[in-house]
Amino acid sequence: MANLNSAVSVIATKRDGGELSDDQIDWVLDAFTRGEVADEQMSALAMAILLRGMNRREIARWTAAMIASGQRMDFTGLTRPTVDKHSTGGVGDKITLPLAPLVAACGAAVPQLSGRGLGHTGGTLDKLESIPGWRADIPVVQMRKMLADPGIGAVICAAGADLAPADKRLYALRDVTGTVESVPLIASSIMSKKIAEGTGALVLDVKVGTGAFMKTPELARELATIMVDLGTDAGVATVALLTAMDTPLGRTAGNALEVAESVEVLAGGGPADVVELTLALAREMLAQAGIRDIDPADVLARGKAMDHWRAMITAQGGDPDAELPRATATEIVSAPASGYLNRLDAMGVGLAAWRLGAGRARQGDPIQCGAGVEMHAKEGDPVTAGQPLFTLHTDTPDAFAPALTALTGAYESGATPIAPAPLILDRIAR
Ligand code: URA
Repeated sequence: MANLNSAVSVIATKRDGGELSDDQIDWVLDAFTRGEVADEQMSALAMAILLRGMNRREIARWTAAMIASGQRMDFTGLTRPTVDKHSTGGVGDKITLPLAPLVAACGAAVPQLSGRGLGHTGGTLDKLESIPGWRADIPVVQMRKMLADPGIGAVICAAGADLAPADKRLYALRDVTGTVESVPLIASSIMSKKIAEGTGALVLDVKVGTGAFMKTPELARELATIMVDLGTDAGVATVALLTAMDTPLGRTAGNALEVAESVEVLAGGGPADVVELTLALAREMLAQAGIRDIDPADVLARGKAMDHWRAMITAQGGDPDAELPRATATEIVSAPASGYLNRLDAMGVGLAAWRLGAGRARQGDPIQCGAGVEMHAKEGDPVTAGQPLFTLHTDTPDAFAPALTALTGAYESGATPIAPAPLILDRIAR
């Protein structure tokens, strides 16, 4: 009889619509981490999971096995509660940058392990790396020191190689095999890293819309519910907000451009939607961490979050006063007619920024810090024929043509203004 745990029999079980046993899940992820299950076998299993799905027991076991593939971090012993935020990714989503220092300034410790961008969505580490000197690789001892320091209290850095290594390898395969968009695989991928990170509380920002992985509220709600259950069952106080990603967040998409916009928010300005979401997530994080009677809007207005930002950037080798890189070439796209900008599509803007050099096509590709799209009008704004709608930034002017193609059809104006769509769509808690 064939070994029930051979890779082929695990793949065949799922291919034929069966349930994977706990033993099969533990074995296949352990053997994959050790190199005994080949990449092509894991890719086939990922496709079978994408097509057939997994039930709640399978997802919970898969998540536990990914956590068990590496080390767990431990921040117990800090005097302040730990809380983290995770966004499922969107266009212009720079919220982590002002949010982490803001929540630290309100009294929590924020161990924020972040990722790099791929495709049309940007990555927090890529954005921060546009600050001269800033380093993403921070040893755990230094993370602990930064979290314990009442003047810093936050760290945004890359996950070490030993945090859920099975997820790292599997994500790289999913990315090149069309298997990213599976709710069970996304939920287990995100939550294995967040649980292994050792945070006490977690707020999930699950994006919904054209610029998000989850295109419909139903799918986003399903993903959020599974993740909230996985976190809660693992002892992490977890809540999710469903937030709109049909139009970009803020007025910039691109690494250094988004850092500059985040600094505006920390200085008390910045686009209204970025401020609204930052404060909403901060309130949720503080509630999950058990910190009451502190209004993050007040802390932001008093400049406390800016103080923590500067201290955090400096502790990671960055110069918060250094000039940010600027692209060498710009091109302006003007409004074709007067009226109101009634649609500005997140996916179109994200693709344009990516083609200008802000993102990468494959892991490890270089990115341009200064590349991206600056938006001079947001949905609902009045526009006059000939006024600048976008400034495109790149170091490679050949990229203007493909970026303009990406923007074609991504915006629309009309004679009467539309009511702006709500940013926060739902809250999922158990
Ligand atoms: N982010 C992750 O970490 N994993 C996924 O699968 C998707 C988004």
